Amino acid sequence: MKTRRQFIQSAGTALAGAALSPLLYEQVKAGVSANDKIGVALIGCNSMGQFNLKDHLRVPEVECIAMCDVDENVLGERAKEISGITGKMPLLYNDYRKVIDNKSIDVVIVATPDHWHCLPTVHACEAGKDVYVEKPLANSIAEIQVMLKAARKYNSVVQVGQQQRSGQHWQDCVALVKSGKLGTIRKIKTWGYFDYGKGGPKVADTDTPAGVNYDMWLGPSPKHAFNKNRFHRSWRFFWEQGGGLLTDWGVHLLDIPLWAMEVTIPKSVMATGGIYGYPENYIETPDTLNVLYDFGNFTLEWDHAGGISKGLYGRSYGVAFIGNNGTLVVNREGWEVTAEEVEGKPKTEIIPLQPADKQDHIKHVQNFIECVKSRNRSVCDVELGHHTALIAHAGNIAYRTGKKLQWDSSQNQFMNDAQANALLKPSYRSPWKFPAV
Ligand SMILES: NC(=O)c1ccc[n+]([C@@H]2O[C@H](COP(=O)([O-])OP(=O)(O)OC[C@H]3O[C@@H](n4cnc5c(N)ncnc54)[C@H](O)[C@@H]3O)[C@@H](O)[C@H]2O)c1
Repeated sequence: MKTRRQFIQSAGTALAGAALSPLLYEQVKAGVSANDKIGVALIGCNSMGQFNLKDHLRVPEVECIAMCDVDENVLGERAKEISGITGKMPLLYNDYRKVIDNKSIDVVIVATPDHWHCLPTVHACEAGKDVYVEKPLANSIAEIQVMLKAARKYNSVVQVGQQQRSGQHWQDCVALVKSGKLGTIRKIKTWGYFDYGKGGPKVADTDTPAGVNYDMWLGPSPKHAFNKNRFHRSWRFFWEQGGGLLTDWGVHLLDIPLWAMEVTIPKSVMATGGIYGYPENYIETPDTLNVLYDFGNFTLEWDHAGGISKGLYGRSYGVAFIGNNGTLVVNREGWEVTAEEVEGKPKTEIIPLQPADKQDHIKHVQNFIECVKSRNRSVCDVELGHHTALIAHAGNIAYRTGKKLQWDSSQNQFMNDAQANALLKPSYRSPWKFPAV
């Protein structure tokens, strides 16, 4: 008997095969859909996880088998909502290892805080499952490397939640940049000015709320007493769990220049900033940061300001490609081009605001499920998520060391910098072990 993955693979190979008639295509698709549902489980159900699962459920083949969270309150509420949609209560787990052990689960969505992306992803790959993992791929450079290795070793389809890759208007912008119409692009700006980036006011540690397994929430990261700032959503501003606005929004936006300019590793990275806006808040990551990457023929900048919501070009966040002929500005709302002028004439076509269709996320999920069937690499394959996470983490490490750093791809570490290299890999708290792949 074929395993589920083999079944999906053979049907998918037919699907991926060249000139299938529309009728045959529909029959093959219907065959997969009717007879072989794709069993999905969600790990980390609070905010983005639930959103991810709901979009997965919009794909006809997808069936929700299980949901897993270390907070029973979140798990109960979210599962009730999902059963209202599907008419069936999923299995409920509070330990992701039970998800991994369940053989009827083909696909795992990992939407835990960043420090909890690596182990479930690697373990799911080892168990022959495919993974939709949220961005940033993980909370350290060593983790993203081992995740890439695991995906390749076990031939898992791993889609990273950088959904812009599936968005039509982002694809249009990338095509425009590649067309050369903007002229030589010497400078690209990416920025995120968000109020939530200032963190929250200091609050005292308390007892852990009922229903929460905080030791499991901390997982491989160091032990702490419960503090509501280092918990749902606001973990982003603590180095052990997240990387601040740079790894939260930066990966979404830095991904676009890597894609459009067809580059991965900059020649150097430097950064400066601090907790300047709201020093009284409980936050470790900077609320004010500028990172500068030099790619040899253009610079790429990340600029963030927590507690501020009015950003560059009248947008709180975005990407600007600055070329000799014109500037393209894009964010999730849409894009436009302004032109430089010579003797009063525009050097490139002026393009007024082109609104986005806002279908990025559902298309991203659809692409993932298509790749689960075809075994093709997904549109934001783990390797692409790895490149963006690498430069985002490198920016944070440049900030934390105060140094201009260079990455050595042959050694997978920074050149001649022990202080920076000491920040590549977290030390996992027992009993968790850094995965060996
Ligand atoms: N793609 C996007 O646009 C987008 C948007 C928001 C968040 N995200 C990403 O999604 C992830 C989750 O972010 P969020 O805002 O939903 O965080 P959140 O804190 O709201 O939710 C995380 C959930 O994971 C649970 N959890 C923690 N450890 C767990 C474990 N070991 N097993 C099972 N559950 C566990 C928590 O209890 C919580 O319910 C992050 O990586 C974030 O960067 C992506």
